[in-house]
Amino acid sequence: MSTIAIAVNAAISAGAYLMTVRMIPRLRDMFIKANLFGRDLCKKDKPQVPESYGVIIGCVFLISMFLFIPIPFTFDENAATDAVTGGKPLTFPHDKFVELIAALLSICCMIFLGFADDVLDLRWRHKLLLPTIATLPLLMVYYVNYNSTTVMMPNFARALFGTSVNIGIFYYVFMGSLAVFCTNAINILAGINGLEVGQSLIIAGSVLLFNFIELSLGHQVESHQFSIHFMLPFLATSLALWKFNRYPSQVFVGDTYCYFAGMTFAVVGILGHFSKTLLLFFLPQILNFLYSTPQLFHFVPCPRHRLPKYDQKSDLLHISTTEFRLDELNSLGRLMVKVLRTLRLVSWQEHADGRIVTNNLTLINFVLVIFGPVHERVATQMLMGFQVLSTLLALFIRYPLANYFYAR
Ligand code: UD1
Ligand code: MG
Repeated sequence: MSTIAIAVNAAISAGAYLMTVRMIPRLRDMFIKANLFGRDLCKKDKPQVPESYGVIIGCVFLISMFLFIPIPFTFDENAATDAVTGGKPLTFPHDKFVELIAALLSICCMIFLGFADDVLDLRWRHKLLLPTIATLPLLMVYYVNYNSTTVMMPNFARALFGTSVNIGIFYYVFMGSLAVFCTNAINILAGINGLEVGQSLIIAGSVLLFNFIELSLGHQVESHQFSIHFMLPFLATSLALWKFNRYPSQVFVGDTYCYFAGMTFAVVGILGHFSKTLLLFFLPQILNFLYSTPQLFHFVPCPRHRLPKYDQKSDLLHISTTEFRLDELNSLGRLMVKVLRTLRLVSWQEHADGRIVTNNLTLINFVLVIFGPVHERVATQMLMGFQVLSTLLALFIRYPLANYFYAR
């Protein structure tokens, strides 16, 4: 492990934080002039807020990483050196170099595509297709460098399948889907001040914690160090954004940031070989996605915005709703809403004329169904609290529980 590389990366990240904190307020007018703004829908007078600040964060992140590129190769403590070459590594680690470059290429593509989405308002099918394409460089590098597609089996399944199973091409499908999921999952758990950045900060912190634990245990040192090199600048730039995006938001992050964050997580998960552990840190996003499926796949009507409804008088957020008649839904849609209703996972109002009003199926609305109307700041805090609890659960599953099920 090169502690020097991590120290330099941390220093660059600190510089990136300071630079971003200074840049964000100065660029507000530029964004508004370019028509890059949105209305803060949960405020009294729905003020204009400059949007797509993810593009700034993404650029500062890329600059930091570009400056960092030579460092791990200069201070590679594991590389064999030769006195004749003046202490330079005997063989240049081309595989590691291409890994770093491909990772940055995928993230860079995603920032570009996210910005295109902010400006052009892309359709859903594009939102699924674009991250898949942006992951291709990454999967190619994985194929060339590792091409390990075996999955360890838990103890109870070993008699049937053996210690590990090679799932071949499906491993690549899984990794491609991981990128699509990570990018979109953050984007659809959004709509209240600070939530997109807040959840990303906690996930990044969790990944870092996991990386440092693994480093201290001496497991897959290079992979976890690779992840730390990405997570530190990501955390630093996101922290600067959080300062301005938390309640009351002075800037919005846009789809650019959500895609950028999601792709950065997917990159470290895939190339750091901890994609399954990464998914454990996405528990709230997984629940939000599953809860959203009836609306995402149009079994239940899905309005353009599903964020909570703001009540001017009380300054509190109430659930936002969707309306339908049972006979308008297809059989699968009817089954879905009936299951949700039976399990008491939705609010349910049935009118005399057969119209049914339920909350929009997002985790934010679900929190409001359970806890009643709350202030926007409190709603974000509750969801971030849940994200932290999920990290604790993830670490419990990853260590005591996994050690038990995967004990050799
Ligand atoms: C996703 C959600 C949508 C949600 C939106 C909010 C799905 C399928 N889509 O859509 O339901 O309403 O995110 O981001 O779940 N905004 C606020 N306050 C905030 C953040 C955003 O009012 O703290 C509003 C602003 O008007 C902003 C807009 O949301 O302009 C951004 O929405 P956009 O990112 O374009 O929506 P989607 O990602 O397509
Ligand atoms: Mg969005």
